[in-house]
Amino acid sequence: MKKVCIVGASGKLGQYMVQHALDRGYEVVGVCRERSVGKLDPFKGRITVFPGATNDREVIKKAVAGCDGVLTVLVPWGVHQYSSGTAQAVLDQAPPGARLIFSCGWHITRDGQDVYSQSFKVTMKAFGWFGRLTRAVDLDDQVEACRRIFTNDTQWTVVRGSDLEEGESQGLPVWSQHVGDPILESNITRRVDFALFMVEALENDELIHEAPAIVGCLTPSALAHAANK
Ligand SMILES: NC(=O)c1ccc[n+]([C@@H]2O[C@H](COP(=O)([O-])OP(=O)(O)OC[C@H]3O[C@@H](n4cnc5c(N)ncnc54)[C@H](OP(=O)(O)O)[C@@H]3O)[C@@H](O)[C@H]2O)c1
Repeated sequence: MKKVCIVGASGKLGQYMVQHALDRGYEVVGVCRERSVGKLDPFKGRITVFPGATNDREVIKKAVAGCDGVLTVLVPWGVHQYSSGTAQAVLDQAPPGARLIFSCGWHITRDGQDVYSQSFKVTMKAFGWFGRLTRAVDLDDQVEACRRIFTNDTQWTVVRGSDLEEGESQGLPVWSQHVGDPILESNITRRVDFALFMVEALENDELIHEAPAIVGCLTPSALAHAANK
């Protein structure tokens, strides 16, 4: 892995991914909305920025050219097919054989085998209802984005994040194939470690065509799982 593109680089997750990628010595290209370019000032001179909407196919085409890996933040924000447009642009324009890593939340299910707690279901229902009401969030479009990824034959991985918190890194999160598995019960991950998992996935072929649901490695449920091994 030599050159990677980070689509949605200006967000919190994106900026952590930029730092992890630079730490590994990768050449880094970032895509973010024009008005957010200033958020990447701390990396000035160390990364190349392509300003533009992440669902703009022309912007993505230029940004991913020559990249071995593409890390994409699939945001649920906006109601203009922003997530699905972003995913489609990356799937269509990334160089053949590139590793494609996408982020989303636990609410995405790949095979319908995830088991959600009652409180999780209530929260997602309220979030979706509020989002539709305010026209700020479109969870259904993130579902559509992932449906397109799951049926695509590129080298993809969809990393499904638990609830997130800020704080120092605790190390690489642990993962399981299905929400509801005991190891995931704590449902919390440091955002910096979510980013770490995304960047590490670039070089982990075991994660190709997987949708790992992740949780912090020092959470009670992860530690209990390790102790029972
Ligand atoms: N927050 C959580 O608890 C949580 C839980 C599980 C999974 N996730 C997943 O983690 C990823 C990052 O989430 P995050 O919460 O950490 O957010 P984040 O990193 O701060 O990212 C927010 C992203 O959304 C973009 N954005 C914000 N408003 C937008 C709009 N109106 N139109 C288009 N783009 C917009 C931002 O771009 P600008 O910089 O241009 O504003 C930025 O790239 C997402 O894939 C999310 O599904 C989050």
